[in-house]
Amino acid sequence: MNRDTAVYLPSSLVIDIEEIDEQHANLFFRLAALKMQCIETNEFPSEAASALLDILEEHCATEERLAGISGVDFSAHAVKHQKMLAAINKAVEEIHEHKIDVFSVLRYIEYWFERHIVEEDLHLGQHLRQTSSRQFVAETRHVRPAHAAAGLPHAPLLAPSHP
Ligand SMILES: [Fe+2]
Repeated sequence: MNRDTAVYLPSSLVIDIEEIDEQHANLFFRLAALKMQCIETNEFPSEAASALLDILEEHCATEERLAGISGVDFSAHAVKHQKMLAAINKAVEEIHEHKIDVFSVLRYIEYWFERHIVEEDLHLGQHLRQTSSRQFVAETRHVRPAHAAAGLPHAPLLAPSHP
């Protein structure tokens, strides 16, 4: 994992799927950076916020892709992603319309994100790991050892010498 962003991901939220953990860490890092930018400039950085939303959408797509590859039912999880993305987009619009405070929105995103990892992504990680270890076992059962492929009953005791 990227060492610069890894520190932003609490160990209790690590799901042990490298690609997803990397993205989670990057999202927490960007959220913290966005908060600092708001404090320093006293303005809402629209471009940084929309970049964060793009990364969040990409992240949701990554989870869906990995679940699809592993045959994990992702329908309920995908609905939660859609609701979350709609709620955050609406909140960002309300910041632009000065209806809501930017720090309230950032706190909401961070809270939602952490809760979502605990309630959904940790289970997803468990399913993905189980599926990949089952696939590994299935694949190794189909590999014929070299001695069997050569028609020998046992593996040779000594490796053949090469001239
Ligand atoms: Fe998720």
